[in-house]
Amino acid sequence: MSEELQPGNTTPAAGPQVPLTPHGKVMAVTSGKGGVGKTFVSANLAAALAKRGQKVLVLDADLGLANLDVVLNLYPKVTLHDVFSGKASIEEAIIQAPGGFSVLLAGSGMVEYSRLTPEIRADFLRIIDGLLPRYDVVLLDTGAGISDVVLFAVSLASVVLVVATPEPTSLTDAYATIKVLAGQQKRANVHMVINQTARLGDGRAITGQLQQVLDRFVVTEPGRGVKLVHLADIPADPSVRQAVMRRQLLMQTLPGCPAALAVAQLARKIEETVISGG
Ligand SMILES: Nc1ncnc2c1ncn2[C@@H]1O[C@H](COP(=O)(O)OP(=O)(O)OP(=O)(O)O)[C@@H](O)[C@H]1O
Ligand SMILES: [Mg+2]
Repeated sequence: MSEELQPGNTTPAAGPQVPLTPHGKVMAVTSGKGGVGKTFVSANLAAALAKRGQKVLVLDADLGLANLDVVLNLYPKVTLHDVFSGKASIEEAIIQAPGGFSVLLAGSGMVEYSRLTPEIRADFLRIIDGLLPRYDVVLLDTGAGISDVVLFAVSLASVVLVVATPEPTSLTDAYATIKVLAGQQKRANVHMVINQTARLGDGRAITGQLQQVLDRFVVTEPGRGVKLVHLADIPADPSVRQAVMRRQLLMQTLPGCPAALAVAQLARKIEETVISGG
């Protein structure tokens, strides 16, 4: 395992609101702007990693506006809500997704959890601690933006994947998110996935531009800025929408389409560079 996935390789956050407690093997998928493809990436990346032999669980950490269940066409009787309220054990709430990975779904009725309280923090930590021994990777599909719940969920991850699209609004929001991750959480690295690109190479260029702005305006400690690691470009592909409309995983229904191939490549890269440290 790489140094990156070892817990405790990041210094604690300054404010009491967002304590950084990075847990090894936990990867957060987040974004500045909503609707950029976090849930699509989380679910299909999980399927691609599972196909490569990794034991993966995706936790629907978008507590207020959860929709991983809809995308996967799963309607669990027991949800995270029951685990949070003590009505069910973690084991009872874990279900198998069609792509060969496990999920912990928030379902509806979690709106009261959209604000961070000490109880929610403790429950989140308890759940993550319970999951870690059983999985190679735990993916957190978070909400968009910089609310305290999102930042708390991200603070539990040793690796952060920021999903952004080439749209200027998505990029300015990604910049704002990364700025907070660098400042509050003292992140040294942030991994970038540029989704819905028009041309190959767009994502790398966009990541380079964001890096330039960060280097100019965001300094975490003297001489130590945040480094963006470009992981993948996922092309805009009509097959993604088709799969979502059918509530199926792209990796299963159309594994040969350009977006699915890009996700498969992302999984390989994550396995090589982030999980096994190659
Ligand atoms: N590569 C792509 N090509 C074409 N369409 C895409 C692509 N990625 C995502 N989409 C479209 O964007 C929609 C939103 O994606 P998704 O639900 O994953 O975003 P999200 O970031 O999780 O949203 P939210 O912030 O609401 O949680 C998808 O339903 C799909 O129609
Ligand atoms: Mg989502």
